[in-house]
Order: sequence, then structure tokens, then C-alpha cells
Amino acid sequence: MPTHPTPHGERPHARGRLNQPPPDTATDFPTIAAAREAARSCRRCPLWHDATQTVFGEGLDHPEIVFVGEQPGDQEDLAGRPFVGPAGRLLDAVLDDASIDRAKVYVTNAVKHFKFEPRGKRRIHSKPNAGEIRACRWWLEKELALTVPKLVVALGATAAHALLGEVVSVTQLRGQTVYRSDGLRVFVTIHPSFILRLPEEVDKRAERARFLEDMRAVARMMAA
Ligand code: URA
Repeated sequence: MPTHPTPHGERPHARGRLNQPPPDTATDFPTIAAAREAARSCRRCPLWHDATQTVFGEGLDHPEIVFVGEQPGDQEDLAGRPFVGPAGRLLDAVLDDASIDRAKVYVTNAVKHFKFEPRGKRRIHSKPNAGEIRACRWWLEKELALTVPKLVVALGATAAHALLGEVVSVTQLRGQTVYRSDGLRVFVTIHPSFILRLPEEVDKRAERARFLEDMRAVARMMAA
């Protein structure tokens, strides 16, 4: 697990401990727009079947920071855009407080189709499994190869799993920067929906403040 702290509170992950990205990560799409178009008809896992559409990443073609969430929610599935529902609004507000301009980053998800259980008229979010994460990692790695960010922010466990190639503990790695063997820096933090799910207002406020501290650390790393 991460050892020697480096400037900016970063701690490199012990190299060689993590499964590395699959070998076919070299990009074969000339642009993000071409990858987005190809992903519309993705059948790499069964999730396309019940989802409305593929929700690909969006933002700057060459951002400094890429944010990776879990998967589109109900509103994102209908809109075809990532992080436009309640978790997205919270993310936007915290990024704003940390002086990170969402228009200058790229936002995507580990899994690009909404996975849900129908319950009456509602569609209840269901966590993607390891096979679905692995299948969609193909797209995530294409996005990273094309955008070439300085830093990737893993929002929650599914994103960290997809980016680091294995299940990791967000509790242990939170606030740390993990270096992949390909040189990519991955900053690990919580998913904003964790804050939304907390029942007590006092806990929500405390966790929002912690999340804001993480985003301020991200902003400092980019300013350094
Ligand atoms: N949660 C995510 O992880 N991604 C979204 O796009 C929306 C909610």
C-alpha cells in the first residue's frame, strides 16, 4: 500500500502491486468525438440492453483533470450526459467552491450504461459488477489515452477499481495520489452520492467539507 509521502501530500503507490491496464489501451480513435460515436453501439457487456443510451464522457478534449464516477444514474441515462442529476449538481457546487471550473475538465464514468432494478415505475441504481467494470474499462482507457490528463480523480470505489485494475479501499486511499505504472496519477476520493445518501444533515455537512478539502488538494496539485 502507499508509502513515501511526496510533495503536496501525494503518496506513490508501491509499484507492481496493482493490475495494470489491459494491453489494448493504445487509442485507435483519432478523437474523443470518434470514440463517443463508436461507443453509442457498444455491446461489450449486457448493460446496453435495458439502458436508454450510452453515456460517454464530456468536457475539454485535452483537460488537465479527468473526473471518473461510477455509472450514469437515472437522469444521466435519459439526458445522455454524465453527472447532470443530484450527484452532478453536488459535484458542480463543490468544484465551484474549490475554484475548479467544470467547463475546463473532462467528466466521465467507469461504466457507461445505467444499471438498475425496476421497482414499480422507478429505476433503482444497481452497482456494476467486476465483469461490467472490466468490459467498460476498454472505453475508459481510450478516453484517458485521448485526453492525456495530468491527473485523474477517482470518485468512489468503482472508479478506483476501474482505474487501478483491482478492488481498493477508498477509506484507506482517500486523499492520496496513486501512480500507475504507465505514469498516470490517480487521486482517490469518495463519490458525491455518498454524501447525498447520509440521513443526518450534520453528517452531510461534515462530509461535504471533507470532500471540498479533497477537491482543494486537487486544485493545489494542478497549480503546483
Ligand atoms: N453518478 C455517477 O457516478 N455518474 C453519473 O454520471 C451520475 C451519478
